[in-house]
Amino acid sequence: MKHFLQETDFAASELAPLFSLAREYKQQRGSHEQPLRGQTWALVFSKSSTRTRVSFEVGIHELGGNPLFLNRNDIQIGRGESVEDTAKVLSRFVHGLIVRTFDHAEVERLAAAGNIPVINALTDYLHPCQIYTDAFTMAERWTRSGDMARALRGRKIAFLGDTSCNVANSWILGANLFGMKISLAGPKEFAPTAALNATLAKEGFANRYQFTTDPFEAVRDADVVYTDVWVSMGKEEEARERIRVMTPYAVTGKLFAAAKPDALFMHCLPAHPGEEVTQDVLDSPRSIIFDQAENRLHLQKALMATLNVARTRT
Ligand code: CP
Ligand code: NVA
Repeated sequence: MKHFLQETDFAASELAPLFSLAREYKQQRGSHEQPLRGQTWALVFSKSSTRTRVSFEVGIHELGGNPLFLNRNDIQIGRGESVEDTAKVLSRFVHGLIVRTFDHAEVERLAAAGNIPVINALTDYLHPCQIYTDAFTMAERWTRSGDMARALRGRKIAFLGDTSCNVANSWILGANLFGMKISLAGPKEFAPTAALNATLAKEGFANRYQFTTDPFEAVRDADVVYTDVWVSMGKEEEARERIRVMTPYAVTGKLFAAAKPDALFMHCLPAHPGEEVTQDVLDSPRSIIFDQAENRLHLQKALMATLNVARTRT
């Protein structure tokens, strides 16, 4: 069974067809094939969401399927039923699972115990749907036709702020898979963790990122300047201290101007203007934050269709 729990669940050679299908779905929205016709895909969410929930629910509907949203606290897993029993029971009813949770091990256990595709819709450790969408969104800017995956190769992304959060971790893994360079700048206590280094080593990507405490060094020659919130979901008690130590890493107009002259600004959203990014950068003509948000729909539709083909073959 093919799952999508982390970036490397697809090989580099599988990216071009995935991006090509996403582009086709985007261009033919409303008139394309409906490969999930007659199916139900469940979303099991333990955290808040705007983009992820809506893009998956709309996406499943547009592929002909039925989305079933389950808040963790409304089902028995919230009262202690095991992850494994939950996976086995849901596998008897639905055709795919989209999971947003805290502990990354939970998505791995659901995938291992069930017999339907599981998609990681964000854990404390990784957010792969976001990163694949971001890569698609960049490639759209850099090539009008042809191999979108190839357009990413050799480009540099700079990630500022909380450089040990799920989006940063996923971007480090993603950059390595896509053949991009990645430079991160944040407080040293938020440097990429030993756990992430172990994942990179396991995937054959050991030490393939640059970390610095100097934000201007990170953005030098960058094609993309990227940031995320400083206080991720579940970290609210650390908010004051995080904001204090991360303030030097805010993406201001001055910092953005130190990247390449045609550099793009990206943010997974939700944004907190005045914290990790200033309003002028969010409003810049080179800010592509809402294309990123929209493309969640197209990319995730391609992802579900691709996993569904793999599911029917196993
Ligand atoms: N970027 C993202 O995943 O947004 P949501 O938390 O709104 O789903
Ligand atoms: N790092 C953020 C991403 C939100 C989409 C969080 O986990 O809250």
